[in-house]
Amino acid sequence: MAETNEIVYLNGDFLAATEAKVSVLDRGFVFGDGVYEVIPVYGGRLFRLDQHLDRLDQSLEGIRVAPPLDHKQWRGLLEELIQRNGGGDQSVYLQVTRGVANRDHAFPANVSPTVFAMSSPLGEVPEELRRGVSAVTMEDIRWKLCHIKAIALLPNILLRQQAIDQGAAEGIMIRDGFVTEGAATNVFAVLGAILVTPPKSNLLLPGITRDLIVELCREGGIELEERPLSEEELRGADEVWISSSTKEILPVTRLDGAPVGSGEPGPVWRRAIALYQTYKQEFRRGNRD
Ligand code: PDD
Repeated sequence: MAETNEIVYLNGDFLAATEAKVSVLDRGFVFGDGVYEVIPVYGGRLFRLDQHLDRLDQSLEGIRVAPPLDHKQWRGLLEELIQRNGGGDQSVYLQVTRGVANRDHAFPANVSPTVFAMSSPLGEVPEELRRGVSAVTMEDIRWKLCHIKAIALLPNILLRQQAIDQGAAEGIMIRDGFVTEGAATNVFAVLGAILVTPPKSNLLLPGITRDLIVELCREGGIELEERPLSEEELRGADEVWISSSTKEILPVTRLDGAPVGSGEPGPVWRRAIALYQTYKQEFRRGNRD
């Protein structure tokens, strides 16, 4: 994991990470009562910012916190954070919690949200990962509001660690016989000539990378269906991929210890990652939003 950059933002101030302090009564600390976003920055520019901020607003609505900032204010704040940390390629993390109050489950009255943002250097996705990662399936033990990007990540943490303990990079979650998503990624499968990804619902996070892949594959003539993906289909898939803002698109070449398809990154993944890379390069050059 990359180290946190020196300067962070907290409730209106830019200050050293070592100096930034929140109250022990913050509901983020006590209850995990907050939401977050992770946004990649390429060449000093925030990638898919509008989409991330739209999702942040939806998460805030989901937990009934009024947006503390509008999109223009978020952009200004995050751009300043990036500049203060030297620009270039970074991964921005932002978090909004319900704020500081005496401990009581019910929403406190007259509380203002805690707004925090930090960043870390973002390197290229290691070539080793692009040669294929292994994943294990596991039961989706989470709640039914997985479309909210909640900071309370204990189930995801336990599932990811369970995957790592089994020597795998990611856990792919199954609920009632169908794939939902990875512990921190969305999932795609190639079935014959068709790329399939589960539809957006309350059972999974609407990934920004997922949406971009859908967009790029449709533009690029790759046949794609957003529909339920059964565990059986996953096991028989020609290719399986996972996606996230920081991992981009990775081929899963082993699932529960068995090879996926040929056991090598597949041809549809090669096309998709090429489309993604081109889009990213154009974005870096300022030719795409
Ligand atoms: N996680 N599903 C879950 C449960 C996730 O936590 C993430 C991302 C994704 C992919 O979403 P996106 O493409 O918008 O990054 C799907 C971030 C990166 C994290 O928690 O660090």
